[in-house]
Parts: sequence; structure tokens; C-alpha cells
Amino acid sequence: MDVKPVKTALIGSGSISYTYLNTLTSGLQIVEMVGCSDLIPERSKTRAELFGIRQMTNEEILSDPEIEIVVNTTQLWNHNAVTRMILEAGKHAYSEKAMGHNYEGAKANYDLAKSKGLFTGSAPDCYMGSVWQTARKLIDDGYIGIPLIAYSMCMRGYGSNERPGNALPDPMMDTHGTTVTYDMAGYYLNVLFNLFGPVKRVSGYSKVFNGGRSFVNTMHPDYGKPFNSKGGETVMLGSLEFENGVYGALVLCSEAFNPEVPRVDIYGTEGHLALPDPNLFGGWGNYVYLTRKGNPGETFKVPFTHGFSDTDPSVPPKSGKREPCHNSWRGIAVADMAYAIRRKRQPRSGGELALHTVEILDCIDKSNADNKVYELTTRPGRPAMLIPGRYGSVQVMESSLDT
Ligand SMILES: NC(=O)c1ccc[n+]([C@@H]2O[C@H](COP(=O)([O-])OP(=O)(O)OC[C@H]3O[C@@H](n4cnc5c(N)ncnc54)[C@H](O)[C@@H]3O)[C@@H](O)[C@H]2O)c1
Repeated sequence: MDVKPVKTALIGSGSISYTYLNTLTSGLQIVEMVGCSDLIPERSKTRAELFGIRQMTNEEILSDPEIEIVVNTTQLWNHNAVTRMILEAGKHAYSEKAMGHNYEGAKANYDLAKSKGLFTGSAPDCYMGSVWQTARKLIDDGYIGIPLIAYSMCMRGYGSNERPGNALPDPMMDTHGTTVTYDMAGYYLNVLFNLFGPVKRVSGYSKVFNGGRSFVNTMHPDYGKPFNSKGGETVMLGSLEFENGVYGALVLCSEAFNPEVPRVDIYGTEGHLALPDPNLFGGWGNYVYLTRKGNPGETFKVPFTHGFSDTDPSVPPKSGKREPCHNSWRGIAVADMAYAIRRKRQPRSGGELALHTVEILDCIDKSNADNKVYELTTRPGRPAMLIPGRYGSVQVMESSLDT
């Protein structure tokens, strides 16, 4: 490796920190994981011991002059404040999705990062996975002709603040910007930005839907009582016009029934791509299916052109307990940001891409309120494709980021 690894730390050692720390300590050469913190010290202690890094406080992380990137895996409603803290300390910030739970806070952090010459950005980075990079290569190589329509849908069946395990929900849960729309849109939008580039105009509908529900989680203190939403939208339909002319639909709903239905379908003049759940990197039943004009009824499962598929889901997490998304490569966008620092280029999952998602959601809410169509002010570049053909060891896959 011809460049110095980038010292990195993580704030927020809760559920998803497992996956980040697992990726960032997997042998990637560009990242040196130093430590992790949490307001609840037992959590950072557990993670630090499991991954052989230092248990630190926020203050220790922020005042360490050698740490260059700080990963923010706190809850969605803490992203704006914690990212601000990281940027104010003069460090590059990468947060879990969404970049923030409102446009104003996310934009303020974007502006702050720019003024300080720092990078900021956010998850999801699943679009860097094998299935999404393969889909992109097929589109770029003309396999579906001119792409026309992108249909994306996340249909879930949870009461917003009743997710399993949320025995004592935070008072911020279910408020604006913390429900399925801000929580899940990034998965769908990032794979579409990867395929088509930025969105030009949006309009849409959104609503807070209660449906006369009661709390059904028996662990919840309000079990059986009527559920009164605190203002977070739970049903949304957005119309997107991409800069390249593709029309897209974004459907997000948490008030249907389980099991979840995730869907991404791309239609072009010469073919159709049926794509899996954008929460996944690919493999283990999640592939690209291509149907071409002239082959009626014949659909092809396309071999992957890129690495970073999910790892075997039946292999248990190192902690020996259930960990969400334990078999994924979440966190490789942090390695990409580290390359961006050393190579003096923009990160693929940079601040403008992250802010673009939040602006789209904000504009759909505004369009619902005033019947207007909104032109986006953010126009991130299409994230560069990873280098194809690099699969195998972590280091070989890592080299596909070094562009
Ligand atoms: N859990 C999942 O399945 C999952 C999957 C994908 C993405 N995510 C995303 O990851 C983020 C975190 O989710 P989670 O499920 O890990 O939440 P979590 O509640 O398990 O963990 C968040 C942690 O952040 C800590 N924290 C909050 N504010 C802090 C601060 N100022 N300083 C230090 N620590 C602080 C909390 O104490 C908590 O331990 C969310 O944005 C979520 O949407 C979660």
C-alpha cells in the first residue's frame, strides 16, 4: 500500500455498529480502526473488546489529532447533532442514514463541512455491492437500451415505533424525519443515483397514517392502547425525474402487512432488470435478472461483474448473538472516503449525495402540502463505478474502490 492508512473511530456503539466494525477491521488496508464510544459505556466496551480496538469517550475521539474520520452510528434523530460535533472538531464525518432527520440540519452540516474543507457523507453504501454494480454495468453497456422507468418500493408492516426490541422507545421516535420515509428512502434512492445519476424534479404525496391502530408490541409500556402518531410520515409516493430523463417512482410505507416487500424494477427500450432488496449487497438468492426484448419469457440470471457480495448469512456473528445485517459490507463507503482523503478526490458517498436524499424527501413533503413540483438544488455527480472484476480477498475487493 502506497498510502498511509486513515485512523478512524466510531461514535454510537449500538446494534449496527457491529457490522461497521466488522467491515472496518476485516483487513482493509486504507482504514486503521482506533476506537469506539457510546453514551452507554457498556456498549462501547463490548464492541471494543470484540474487535480489539480502544473503548473511548466522545471527547477522547474528538480531541485525538491522529483520528481523521469519525463514523456516526447513533440513532437517526441524533445524526445532525453528532455529525456537527465531529465536523466542529475538524474531522471528516460519515453517518448512518439518513444524513439528518430534517433538511435544514443536514444542509447546515453540509455547508459547515464545505467551509472547513472536510468530507461528510452518509449510508447506505449497499449500492457499492456486487448486485448493484452489476446492474449498473448492464445499463451502461446498453443491455436494456434506453432506460425509461425506475420503480422502487419499500412496503413494510411495522407500527413505526413498535419495532421488535424497542421496549422503551425514545421520545424522538415517530416524529417527523424518523419514520420509514427518512429511515428507508436512502437504500432505494442511492441505488437509483448509482444507476442514473441525480434527480432534477420531484413531486409527490405523503401522510401520517394511523389506521386506528393500537400498540401491538407486548414489551411496549403502551401495549393495547391506541397509537397516536407524533407526526412522522408513514406513507409516501414520490415522482422523480432524473437529470438523464428517466422517470422514477419512490413508494415507502410502513403500514402494510409483513413480510416486507422490497422492489426495484428498471424498464428500458430493449429490456427489463428485476433487482433485489437494496438493503443488501447481493448474492444468497439476491441477483440481477435480465429480460431482453426478443427473448420473450426468457429471463437470465446475470453473473456478478463486481465483488462485495454479502457474506454467508448462515455463519453466525462473531459476538455469538443476533446482530443486524451481520453478513454485509456496510462501512465500505468509509474506506472509500479514506481513499478520497489520500487520493484527493471526492468520496462516492459524499455530502451532496447524502443531502440529495434528504432534499428529495423534504420536497415530496412540501409538494404534498402545496401541490407544487420542486426542482432540486443539490445535483451530486453520479458516484463512480467500482472497478469491475475485483472479487476474492478483502484486499482485492478493496482495490476496486481505489479509483
Ligand atoms: N439496527 C439496524 O438493523 C440498522 C440497520 C441499518 C441501519 N441502521 C441505522 O443505524 C443507526 C443506528 O441504529 P441502531 O439500531 O444501531 O441504534 P441503537 O439505538 O442500537 O444504537 C445507537 C447508539 O448510539 C448511542 N448514542 C446516541 N447518541 C450518542 C452520542 N451523542 N454519543 C455517543 N453515543 C450516542 C446510543 O447510546 C446507542 O447505543 C440508525 O440510523 C439506523 O437507522 C440500523
